[in-house]
Amino acid sequence: MEQDTSIWTEKYRPKKFEGVVGQDEIVKRVTNLTNAMNIPHLLFAGPAGTGKSTLALIVVKELYGDNWRENYLELNASDERGIDVVRQKVKDFARTKPIGNVKFKVIFLDEADALTKEAQQALRRTMENYSSNCRFVMSCNYSSKIIDPIQSRCVILRFKLLERKDVEKRIRLIAEKENLQIDDQGIEALYEDSEGDCRRVINLLQATAAVTNNITPDLVNTLSSTAKPGDVKIVLEYALSGDFLKSKEKLLDVMLRDSVSGSDIIKSIQKEIWGLAIDPEIKVRLTEKTGEIEFRLTEGSDEFIQLEALLASFVMAGRGV
Ligand SMILES: Nc1ncnc2c1ncn2[C@@H]1O[C@H](COP(=O)(O)OP(=O)(O)O)[C@@H](O)[C@H]1O
Ligand SMILES: [Mg+2]
Repeated sequence: MEQDTSIWTEKYRPKKFEGVVGQDEIVKRVTNLTNAMNIPHLLFAGPAGTGKSTLALIVVKELYGDNWRENYLELNASDERGIDVVRQKVKDFARTKPIGNVKFKVIFLDEADALTKEAQQALRRTMENYSSNCRFVMSCNYSSKIIDPIQSRCVILRFKLLERKDVEKRIRLIAEKENLQIDDQGIEALYEDSEGDCRRVINLLQATAAVTNNITPDLVNTLSSTAKPGDVKIVLEYALSGDFLKSKEKLLDVMLRDSVSGSDIIKSIQKEIWGLAIDPEIKVRLTEKTGEIEFRLTEGSDEFIQLEALLASFVMAGRGV
């Protein structure tokens, strides 16, 4: 089979409103606001993998067309080191005028509920200072974790877990483009595992397709029980915090308890890196390192020793080495 190195959640992220499944009311409202070329501050609340970041990107692409990159700043609250970094970036970005006809720029603040209450107060002042030429679009899992003064400045849109019929639409589209065979049971298995999280569905579909073009429910179920992303994230977070021993223990635990192979762990690590609260340059470095270790595993090196070496790189990265 031909090697496909693209990540399907990115490859199949809808680029237009029509591609977004479910969330009908939200899409309708946001389409109208975007067409009027004048959006208020928006707060997208709801579970992971339901289209919040996707919709934010579509809005800016619709607003600015080819100029979207110049007029758009994306910040992840849990990545940035503190509110001062967020405010400085906003300040730098807001200093220059928007390019094109739209009178404002857009700042997307992902995972805004990761900010402390104090940081949110500071953010609120920043919003006030720059609201003449910036609109904030924020995403969060729980709107209740966002302070009232921010909530009251935003139009709040509540995303729901996707229904089976919606998830099915995306699966069928991807299956067609990737030449996969999948029947109703296969779709049911993917949906069951995901609980309405579309990112998870697509990741699991890609993992299954890496094995065979024929997506059977059995295979889906087998793969979905391999390394749970949450577990691997804990392994990496221990390493980044400098606790090499705990990180190794947890890794061994995941591998033995769930009988996951080294290469499955590597795949999970590769996915998790992008969500970690570290600098983008470090993410790139760790991704490279992970690729190198994967190569050594395919060459027949000892799995656990290689994974330990990889964790050591995370420890070093955590220390800023
Ligand atoms: N409502 C949706 N319609 C179509 N695809 C979706 C939808 N929600 C999620 N996806 C898919 O799942 C991936 C993750 O979605 P994203 O918008 O980043 O989720 P989140 O709500 O966590 O920000 C996207 O790349 C896209 O492929
Ligand atoms: Mg998101």
